[in-house]
Amino acid sequence: MSNLTFGIIKPDAVRAGKQGAIIQRILDAGFGIRGMKLIHQTRKQAEGFYVVHAGKGFFDELCDFMSSGPCVVMALEKDGAVKAWRDLMGATNPAEAAEGTLRKEFATSIGENAVHGSDSEENAQIEIAYFFSKLELV
Ligand code: CMP
Repeated sequence: MSNLTFGIIKPDAVRAGKQGAIIQRILDAGFGIRGMKLIHQTRKQAEGFYVVHAGKGFFDELCDFMSSGPCVVMALEKDGAVKAWRDLMGATNPAEAAEGTLRKEFATSIGENAVHGSDSEENAQIEIAYFFSKLELV
């Protein structure tokens, strides 16, 4: 699965109706989409997904936000997918995101930053398995 990564189009971007534009950008950048679905996470599911951040000052706000509305979860395929997707997303804080990145264009704050991506191949496998069964990956 080293050519796979995991991505989320977060509730802020879905609320703003930007999911179509973001998916188009993903396809234009040469990613294959191996899995995709619209979900509305419970607070508990969001807490489980972001468990590595438990105890940090922004954890409660992050879990409230991620369970505040529907989001799009995706398994993305490309050579060097983890880095390629992080490059397309841009810096976590949109104020620091480079021109041409998704967060520069679509994010409004460090908390509501439009998209998520795995930070390593190991976490990509864990995060894909958190939301997708094998049958849901084409
Ligand atoms: P994400 O890549 O989804 O992983 C953890 C998220 O926590 C991050 O994007 C941010 O949206 C969110 N977050 C909120 N506040 C902070 C902060 N001060 N530092 C880092 N991440 C933050």
